[in-house]
Amino acid sequence: MTKKTENQLLVIFGASGDLTARKLVPALFNLYLARQLPENFIVLGASRSDMTDNEFRSRVVLESRYLKPRLEDLKDNYIKGFSDKFFYEDLGSDYNTHYGRLQKRIDDLNNKYHLDGNVIYYLSTPPTLYEPIAKRLAEVGLNQQENGWKRLIVEKPFGYDLESGMQLNRGLQQYFSEGQIFRIDHYLGKETVQNLLVTRFANSIFEPLWNRNYINHVEITNAESVGVEKRGGYYDKSGALRDMFQNHLLQIVSLIVMEPPIGDAPEDIRNEKVKALKSLRIMRTDKELHDNTIRGQYVASEVSGEKVKGYREEDGVDSSSTTETYAAIKFFADNWRWKDVPFYVRTAKRMPTKVTEVVIHFKSPHHHIFQNSGVNNKDNKLIIRIQPDEGVLIKFGVKVPGQGFKVERANLDFYYSSLAKTRVMEAYERLLLDCMQGDATLYARADEVEAAWEFVDPILKYWESGKDVRMYGYAAGVWGPENADELIDGIGYWRNPSSNLADDPGYCVIC
Ligand code: BG6
Repeated sequence: MTKKTENQLLVIFGASGDLTARKLVPALFNLYLARQLPENFIVLGASRSDMTDNEFRSRVVLESRYLKPRLEDLKDNYIKGFSDKFFYEDLGSDYNTHYGRLQKRIDDLNNKYHLDGNVIYYLSTPPTLYEPIAKRLAEVGLNQQENGWKRLIVEKPFGYDLESGMQLNRGLQQYFSEGQIFRIDHYLGKETVQNLLVTRFANSIFEPLWNRNYINHVEITNAESVGVEKRGGYYDKSGALRDMFQNHLLQIVSLIVMEPPIGDAPEDIRNEKVKALKSLRIMRTDKELHDNTIRGQYVASEVSGEKVKGYREEDGVDSSSTTETYAAIKFFADNWRWKDVPFYVRTAKRMPTKVTEVVIHFKSPHHHIFQNSGVNNKDNKLIIRIQPDEGVLIKFGVKVPGQGFKVERANLDFYYSSLAKTRVMEAYERLLLDCMQGDATLYARADEVEAAWEFVDPILKYWESGKDVRMYGYAAGVWGPENADELIDGIGYWRNPSSNLADDPGYCVIC
């Protein structure tokens, strides 16, 4: 049953920034095309740039490079129907200011367009402004829910470490209740990440095997072929662990580790995810941290005859930076289901390809009947491809035709794209619509974020100032420092879905 989306106003703080034009407006446009916007719906951009409503419409809709090509074949009236929903309010020189004028503008739009007093505030600003904006909204009563609901969406990073993450939560909760706060993690909006829940809990063939009795280890790879691009300034203060691991990857881990929820209500699912995150064994000693974590940074190389810059040469990056662009972590979940099953998770930039996948490695059969079959070193695998080529792959043994019992690996492969008639929603589109409908299932709750920080915090501290900490250099275009293979017990290597692009797969210690 399609849920009803109530009339509402979306106020975007930081509306002149890149995210609004690149992600938010295209997501809204998709909802417009799919007729999923509510009957009465208005967007009010707010930021420090001086712009008229029409200038804002041109910038984010009519002349936007992210939308323009898609508008070409559409009728003017239809496009106007979309762009007329956009308005703009200049907040002056500082976000931290009295919001009397903003309140008046919101009231006027609400009355004129019959928005029923429902408002989402989307904070697409630097995180340092989250609490001041929430405070200023509350000061003029814009958080009050007597006449229509009010929701606040915040983007990661949700803090810089455990302490600041907790401070941010407490700070926002002074002005908005937890139920009003929606922390967006765009990985949760990806169809295949949600499919982890369905694979596990809507089938009877995987869940009975989903435990220490049958699973040998779990491997998650998140690789990007790009470097830090224009975000060197931000990234250099963040690094792979904060940028990807603390949020996106631990969210994926929580969906793999969690127990079956009693139902699909947001709190049922989120409660289980928190329990899963809290079960991750926190590494406390230098020895544990040393033995189970590896960090690296890409160095200059040549890929297909082209020179690729090293991280320290990127714009906005300190030339002696010790920020990691590669992080690989081995850890355990201390609970009944996962006792002694290692999890290996890595994330990095400037890898040979862009891929995110979860690999469940099953144990080999308890008793080998087919001696010399050649299969004993090849485990059964369930590979959940989150991107690209979204789908699920099962690797299992089949008999090689002919005499004897030689065994080969065969693939059972499902591609989402084969569901030709199904439109796969973009992550932001799905998440925005969920928030418009008040569904917080795919948003991170305060205690989830804090549990994730609790796990990550000691690693960050160790990498900052621990004993024997190393930063390994890896050539841009290879699968990270070679010694990361040493993390993997038993088989001793990561599953690399493609070959290295640069010739030099070696590694060196760079600090
Ligand atoms: C963002 C990170 O959250 O996710 C970026 O800040 C990263 O550094 C991006 O590139 C990756 O997202 P996706 O959806 O392209 O895998």
